[in-house]
Amino acid sequence: MGLKKLGVRRFCVFALVIAAVVTWIICFIKSEAPSSVTAVGSMPDQTLDYFLKKGIIKVHDAADIQWYHAANSKHKITEALQDSTQMIEADVLLRGRDPKEPIMAHPPDNDSDITLRDWLKMVVNSDKGIKLDFKSLEAVEESMALLDKVRYQLKGPVWINADILPGPGGMATPLDAQGFLQAVAMKAEGDVLSLGWTTGWSPNIDNPGYSWEMVQQMEAMCKNLTQPVTFPVRAALLSQSFVQFQWLLQQSDRYTLTIWTGQSDVLNVEHLLPYRQSVSKSRIYYDLLENQISKFKSLPGYTMSQLEQS
Ligand SMILES: *[C@@H]1O[C@H](CO)[C@@H](O)[C@H](O)[C@H]1NC(C)=O
Ligand SMILES: *[C@@H]1O[C@H](CO)[C@@H](O)[C@H](O)[C@H]1NC(C)=O
Repeated sequence: MGLKKLGVRRFCVFALVIAAVVTWIICFIKSEAPSSVTAVGSMPDQTLDYFLKKGIIKVHDAADIQWYHAANSKHKITEALQDSTQMIEADVLLRGRDPKEPIMAHPPDNDSDITLRDWLKMVVNSDKGIKLDFKSLEAVEESMALLDKVRYQLKGPVWINADILPGPGGMATPLDAQGFLQAVAMKAEGDVLSLGWTTGWSPNIDNPGYSWEMVQQMEAMCKNLTQPVTFPVRAALLSQSFVQFQWLLQQSDRYTLTIWTGQSDVLNVEHLLPYRQSVSKSRIYYDLLENQISKFKSLPGYTMSQLEQS
């Protein structure tokens, strides 16, 4: 009897010690992870985790994600699904003639040989992520409904993009921000929202950067969202806007940047180094031209963090 009791007591003590050790290990692992405050119910970007788990990228570095652009035809989406990129970007608008349904096209085109419906049918067979770029509000609601129908078949990350605020040099009219967020935010709980400013860039002038007012306005639009948000920002306007984006990224760990370039923008990739060196590598995607990316990656400062430099 007594011996048996002793055995039970020993077992209990043993179990407690094991529990304590496991708890300690879990706490230790957690404290190693980047810790910044996340609001309840909100989610940081899972895009990198997805590609890491697949073994497609090796480290938490968003610069290793590659993009296919304007996969707006049968031929191009076929090519995109077979090449070495991880994310496929395409433009969605409502067809200019009947039947008016969401198609894959970039203005000024108003027709396409592929509808969003058929495009999604092709994408569900793939492990790649997608970024749908909306140029007008009228296609958004129907597109989100189509997306909903295949949501559980889609394997990769889904990004929903639109310019919703006027930005530096922007001439185009942004999509109505409230209208867009209403159409998208409720339907896109696990998606990454890619929310940008209209922009312009001209050669041989001092192009203005993103102002404090612009980033503050964006933060006000995004702070109540629960989704991860990436801000598409124009590479050639970034050297003038470093403190503004440093501030913006500090407002939530749901926020990332996606640096893109206009085809004919003159870009000095060295101007992107301050971003690379002082922001976590998991928080800046680079959607640049191939030669720009390789030049950027070959800069001595590319692999160095600010800490290592000083
Ligand atoms: C679509 O584009 C074509 C060619 O540019 C043009 O002729 C046509 O009027 C446009 N249709 C609509 C409905 O905008
Ligand atoms: C965000 O939430 C706060 C508090 O609920 C509210 O006062 C504010 O108007 C909301 N902002 C937006 C842009 O919806």
